[in-house]
Amino acid sequence: MIPKECKRLAEVDFPIAVVSRYARAEKDSRVAHVPRLHVWPAARPGGACRSILLALLLPDPCDPACPKQFKDSAAEALLALRSRPERWSKQMSTDEGLRGLLLEFIGRLADWGDAHQAPVVRCAQALIGAAHGDEPPLVVDPFAGGGVIPLEALRLGCDAASMDLNSVALLIQSTVLELMPRHIDEMIETLPSIAASIRSAAERELGPFYPKDPNGFEPAAYLWARCIRCEAPNCGAEIPLVRSFWLAKRAHRQRALRYEVIHSGGVPSLRWEVFEPRRADDVPHGTVSRAKATCPCCGAVLAPDRVRSQLAEQNGGSNVAFNTNGQRRAGAMLLAVASVPPGDDARSYRVATDADYEAVWKAQQRLKQILHEWEKNGRQGLCPVPDEPTPAGGGSGAGRAFSIQKYGMLRWGDLFTARQSLAMATLCRLIHDSAPANVRPIVALLISKVIDLNNALTVWHNVGERPAHMLSRWAIPMKWDFVEPIPISQFSGSLDTALARTMHLLREFAVRRPAQLIQQADASEQILPDASVAVWFTDPPYYDAIPYADLSDFFFVWLRRALPDDARLKDRYDPTNALTAKVREAVQDEQRRSACGQPKDKAYFEKKMREAFAVGRRELRDDGIGSVVFAHKTTEGWEALLSGIINGGWTITGSWPLATEMSSRLRARDSAALDTSVHLVCRPRPDDAPVGDWGEVLRELPRRVEAWMDRLQDEGVRGADLVFACIGPALEIFSRYSKVETAEGREVPLDEYLLKVWEVVGRTALNQVLGTAEGRARNGAAGALEEDARLTALFLWTLQSTTEESPSNGNGNGGADGDDEDADESDEDEEEAGSSGRKKKGFSLIFDVARRFAQPLGIHLEAWEKRIIETEKGVVRLIPVLERANQLFGEEGAASVADRLERGPATAAAAQMMLFPEPAAPPKVRGRGRRTKGNVADSEFETRREATTLDRVHAAMLLQASGRANALRALLKAEVERGPDFLRLANALSALYPQGSDEKRLLDAMLLAVPR
Ligand SMILES: C[S@@+](CC[C@H](N)C(=O)[O-])C[C@H]1O[C@@H](n2cnc3c(N)ncnc32)[C@H](O)[C@@H]1O
Ligand SMILES: [Zn+2]
Repeated sequence: MIPKECKRLAEVDFPIAVVSRYARAEKDSRVAHVPRLHVWPAARPGGACRSILLALLLPDPCDPACPKQFKDSAAEALLALRSRPERWSKQMSTDEGLRGLLLEFIGRLADWGDAHQAPVVRCAQALIGAAHGDEPPLVVDPFAGGGVIPLEALRLGCDAASMDLNSVALLIQSTVLELMPRHIDEMIETLPSIAASIRSAAERELGPFYPKDPNGFEPAAYLWARCIRCEAPNCGAEIPLVRSFWLAKRAHRQRALRYEVIHSGGVPSLRWEVFEPRRADDVPHGTVSRAKATCPCCGAVLAPDRVRSQLAEQNGGSNVAFNTNGQRRAGAMLLAVASVPPGDDARSYRVATDADYEAVWKAQQRLKQILHEWEKNGRQGLCPVPDEPTPAGGGSGAGRAFSIQKYGMLRWGDLFTARQSLAMATLCRLIHDSAPANVRPIVALLISKVIDLNNALTVWHNVGERPAHMLSRWAIPMKWDFVEPIPISQFSGSLDTALARTMHLLREFAVRRPAQLIQQADASEQILPDASVAVWFTDPPYYDAIPYADLSDFFFVWLRRALPDDARLKDRYDPTNALTAKVREAVQDEQRRSACGQPKDKAYFEKKMREAFAVGRRELRDDGIGSVVFAHKTTEGWEALLSGIINGGWTITGSWPLATEMSSRLRARDSAALDTSVHLVCRPRPDDAPVGDWGEVLRELPRRVEAWMDRLQDEGVRGADLVFACIGPALEIFSRYSKVETAEGREVPLDEYLLKVWEVVGRTALNQVLGTAEGRARNGAAGALEEDARLTALFLWTLQSTTEESPSNGNGNGGADGDDEDADESDEDEEEAGSSGRKKKGFSLIFDVARRFAQPLGIHLEAWEKRIIETEKGVVRLIPVLERANQLFGEEGAASVADRLERGPATAAAAQMMLFPEPAAPPKVRGRGRRTKGNVADSEFETRREATTLDRVHAAMLLQASGRANALRALLKAEVERGPDFLRLANALSALYPQGSDEKRLLDAMLLAVPR
């Protein structure tokens, strides 16, 4: 047994870079890890969980309290590993050596390739045995989601208790943590034949609704567009809402759609044709962009509210409206059919025919009949098509993920075409009727895979020529055109492809140890006995980033139809609830209310976290340890979590940022997603913890932060990831104490401390990039660059990204399970309400993050608004240098300034006079037309002012941009004579601007022109 005072490895060191590398590889690869079984937003990579868990469980051999018996047995376990390097036997002769080897092994454990090998897993198990004896330690995750943490605990031979509030999560957990370990052989043996019989029954029932082409080609996908009517007088044409007319956009094969407008007296209409474009220009522009529709017949533009209201009248417009004879009259329009010739794989495209519509009409008739029978039989059981309400969405919290109600998709069934509903209802019934109990949940989970691609919000991925996952951004936004795959085919989106993936996972599934407990539970409720848990390891909800419960309803409504009597799918807290549990969910979404009617604001989230952590603290053994994962880039999210941890009675004893590439996963306000997730290590704070002295805490803080930033930068952690990774060590200092008091006896609240933390981190960053004067500077301090330079440097520093060279704007290209069906999210469909149209250029940060850094460093964001930054909707944008031309040179522009520079004497004063010319007339604000480089109209800045060093650097960059070499040389000569600041700043910025950015290019070219 490890004495309580002995530190665990996770409290002293961790192989950050190695584990990060494996974690990323795991997300990118086709490893058969749990998320492949069912989509669960932001599932952890298993490798990182395994490594952290082992580091939590093992004592540090260098700790004086580390038992000798552990060291001996651990050495033995490592030596027994056949694949170990030779040097190990020598290296383990010292405590430091053994620690190094254990860390090396922990790193290696993150590699799926290795962890998949029985000897490696056995070695990990033996190490745990060496530390904890024969009784396996109990690992608990109260926010277990898709169950990755408990699964890895079981793999390492621990006991596991897994809880979540959400029924879909519970069904996944029960499948992965209990049914699969117990019945995997039965599943592997029977699942293919069960799925085959479901498929052939489905084929008999549904086959007529997906007819083959007369030439024998088999349809693989139908490509649809929602339609509205042009409202221009004398037009009235149908406008198919299409984002892009490309069908196949591969290097070797390109196909697209084009149309001809037919004016035959009455209302104009379109005639379609599939063609092979020679150039991108050959492909017609989409008809809809940011919710504005353009009529292809007359060019009239319909405003977003008209588009929305016309679609709302059609409940979203996913269905065709037929007249009584089965003739299409309005509604969704079939643009093209992708079909596949016998014995081939390549998609071939054709336009829609009457036969295609006839099949849709028949499917509609059949569905009507089913619904009619259900009505006639007194509505027994659930309505075959989900009639449960969709989330209202909206607001500034997690509800931002949903806008479908604005388009009239009020019930979950509205997210499916009639033919899709018919197919899903049929599959659900067949599953319910055919699969034996132990296997039924995994068959039902196949349905989730199928509906993820079979819904009317799935778009066509024209590069991959396949449907893209609907839930690629953990949101359900409107999509104008969509694809309908064929669930009974063998192509993407079918039951067959879902089965193939699941079988791959089952065959590789090696865990045979079932969890001790799987339960639907609110984490703020105590389930386990006091002092029973060895490791409390959890990944709590991400504040406002992911509305878990609402998203999961998309799957839940169908799962419930496949498993109508399954107790796991009931809401234990409200048996009348027809959807997943919401009231107790820990999420920041002010549109929602808690049980006592309180809006789910920051205070609510904090309270939920505090309660959950307090429960964990009670359940934890005295010598137990905790770990909390968090991956969010807003300071509010972090503050809410940290106050929960500290007020819940924990102290933070370690913190490891791991690059798990969450950036593509988290849907969030611009850059609110981290590339890394921070794993905090914590221990129960002793009831008699001392009172801390504020002065001493403040003295220790910068030392810790600096040392930590150095270490992390060496491991490749950068920017905002680095900022948030510093929270751990900072909190280690603060959370040791029962409270921290000032000399006057005033208790210092956590928020006040966090303000200090942001300040110290910002200051340390500035020190590193600009030098000590700036780090210390308040305004006007001697020798320091001005505020705007410090703001720009800090901004760019924060934007640096851990996983890529250029800064991430948080809108990566992730797909729901990171596999080959990733969505291309470049065409965001909806309008950005209130924005000026196109996405603006420039780097952006969340306002709150920028503010918290800037303020304590004496930088007044408001003073630089419209000069170097622009704030809109909580996001601050650094105005690109090219957009500052007018500000810096005035209306007369760079050319005449350059002329004068070339003519005049090259002195600093003269150069200074060239900038910020007094505007002859009050500044005009020009329209926001399409901006061309170097010619930017935005003269909202106020009056003439002294140009700062940053202004002068920017001016030089603009002269570089406009090719005025002589003028640039004159300016540079003057600057070099003036003093060192100009070059100091230019060099610092050159190191901060991302590779490949306009600024970096201009700056580097400009620096080459500096006289030596
Ligand atoms: C970040 S996720 C966990 C993901 C998990 N680690 C995985 O790998 O799949 C957070 C989970 O907390 C759950 N949750 C939210 N509020 C809860 C509550 N009050 N009690 C228990 N679970 C809750 C959500 O359903 C979600 O599954
Ligand atoms: Zn028109």
